[in-house]
Amino acid sequence: MKTIVTKSYDEMSKTSADFFESEIRNNPEIVIGLATGSTPVGTYKELVRRHMEKGLDFSRVKSFNLDEYLGLSGDNPNSYRHFMNEQLFNHINIDKNNTHVPEGLTEDPKAYGEKYDQMITESGGIRIQLLGIGSNGHIAFNEPDDELPLGTGLVELSEQTIEDNARFFQSIDQVPTQAISMGMGSIMKAEKIIILASGEGKAEVISKLLNSGKVTSRIPATFLLLHPDVTLICDEEAYSGVSR
Ligand code: F6R
Repeated sequence: MKTIVTKSYDEMSKTSADFFESEIRNNPEIVIGLATGSTPVGTYKELVRRHMEKGLDFSRVKSFNLDEYLGLSGDNPNSYRHFMNEQLFNHINIDKNNTHVPEGLTEDPKAYGEKYDQMITESGGIRIQLLGIGSNGHIAFNEPDDELPLGTGLVELSEQTIEDNARFFQSIDQVPTQAISMGMGSIMKAEKIIILASGEGKAEVISKLLNSGKVTSRIPATFLLLHPDVTLICDEEAYSGVSR
């Protein structure tokens, strides 16, 4: 895992946008993997700016998002589809038909998950995948457990994740307890992975990730240590636990 430590959240976001810009310019028909949450907001802002000011062209780009809350429709303001439209898709020239966010209203998450993975494969696979990291080490919604799912499907959110994500909802009781999430295998198939971390709240998990020297399903992000092309971009605060 390569690590880039930046002075600030803004610099982290620009560095992450640099990776995406260069990949998109290199292959305008690229398939990209996207994440939601607070961390990638600055990356999306920067990609929107580059689209508007530098003509970065998304017209032939395809995207797949990591996850969606089960039970939320795409027009629910708390859904990840809504988040992606607001933060990125509505402001660039991507064809929405080429953007994929798992369907939160699916009645058959197992079959739907298999179909989602198949769509990724049929599109040629993800060239560059953006990830955040949960304070408990989750990636997408693959939560710490004895076993981790390989493919996309239904997952239960951990109490920690429900608490962490309550800030987006009016009350903690409104946070969905289940989601459709890309599995560990689906994520590890991406050719290149960019994982972002920002702020004190991620310092402990980043130090565990970088100092452990082990892979453990109790910190799902450690599986990324097995991938040949992962870059962690984190600000100084998130990195501050590594040498402590
Ligand atoms: C989001 C996702 C999650 C987040 C993680 C960090 O699509 O899959 O794994 O990346 O929970 O969230 P933030 O960025 O809000 O700290």
